[in-house]
Order: sequence, then C-alpha cells, then structure tokens
Amino acid sequence: MAKKRRILLKLLFWILVLFVVIQFIPAKKPPVSEQNPNDFIRTAHFPDSVAVLFKNACYDCHSNQTVYPWYTYVAPVSWLIVRDVKDGRKHVNFSEWNSFKITKKLKVLDKAADEIKSGDMPFWPFLIMHPKARLTKKERKIMVEWLDNKGEKMFSGE
Ligand code: HEC
Repeated sequence: MAKKRRILLKLLFWILVLFVVIQFIPAKKPPVSEQNPNDFIRTAHFPDSVAVLFKNACYDCHSNQTVYPWYTYVAPVSWLIVRDVKDGRKHVNFSEWNSFKITKKLKVLDKAADEIKSGDMPFWPFLIMHPKARLTKKERKIMVEWLDNKGEKMFSGE
C-alpha cells in the first residue's frame, strides 16, 4: 500500500512539474484590434439584436476582436485556443468583411448559414466556457434568416 502511494505521489509531482514547465512555452496569440473599418456588423448594418448573437457566438474566433479570458493564458489550453483563433480567422474573418469581393461575401453568408443551421458552429469546445454562445433554436433561425436575406439582397444588387 505504502509503495503504491509513493508511486502515485511521484507521478503527481512530475505531472505538476510538467505543468509548470509547459507554461514557459510561448503561445503566440493572434493580436486583437478594436479598429476594424471593414467589420461585418458595422458595414452590413446589422440590427443590434442580431449583432449581439454573432458577437457572442462567432467573434472570438472569426474576428480581430477576440476576447482572451484568464484560462487562455494557461498551457495547454492556450495552445488549443491559439490554434482555433488562427484557423477560425483564416477561414472567415468578419473584421475584414467589407474588403471581400462580392463572390466571397456571398460564399461566406452561405457557409455561415449552413454552419449555424447544422449546429457545427459555434465550435463546441467554445460552449463549455461561453454559455452566451449556446444558441437556441430561435436564435439560430434569426441568424440564418438574416444571413439569407442579406445574401438575397446582395445577389439582386441592392
Ligand atoms: C472556438 C472558435 C470558433 C467559434 C466560436 C466559431 N468558429 Fe467557425 N470555425 C472555427 C474553426 C477553427 C474553423 C476552421 C475549421 C473548421 O472548418 O472546422 C471554422 C470554420 C468556419 C467556417 C468555414 C467553414 C468552411 O467550410 O470553410 C464558417 C463559415 C464558420 N466557421 C462560421 C462560424 C459562425 C457563423 C460562428 C458563430 C455562430 C462560428 N463559426 C463560431 C472556429 C470557431
């Protein structure tokens, strides 16, 4: 029994050491900018009630306005978050919306609606710490309708 306990303590000790050591491995967070003249919400004239849904559910990974809570500074969580934000922005960065060509805009609207409809986005691990991003059926419907509507208007040149 005593031997087992010693082994367990040793193991815990080394896990703790490892945890401390990995904190020194830098995780380079994608930078935050509040100045985004081409922002989606701003330039696509969202109603506030819809804007808040996108902001809560999508903007941490798909805009330059990522909010980094304290746990995003703790490895190994920080590594996962850096990866998701980088990858998310690379796919769709809503802060740069108005600089996209019309074909890209239409594609983004269409894809975003698909992701919301299917429930694939917001990316699920995000929901653990972001209860506001847990969209209800009704909220999903509002977002999708708004995206579809915007797409139709753009398509008909409005
Ligand atoms: C926790 C981060 C995170 C959140 C929050 C998030 N996404 Fe994503 N999103 C990603 C990542 C990472 C990718 C790229 C990998 C993939 O497609 O799974 C992605 C990809 C996408 C794509 C591109 C899919 C494709 O086929 O190219 C769209 C569109 C998208 N997300 C829309 C949204 C919308 C709309 C929301 C809010 C309702 C949202 N995302 C919330 C991380 C996130």
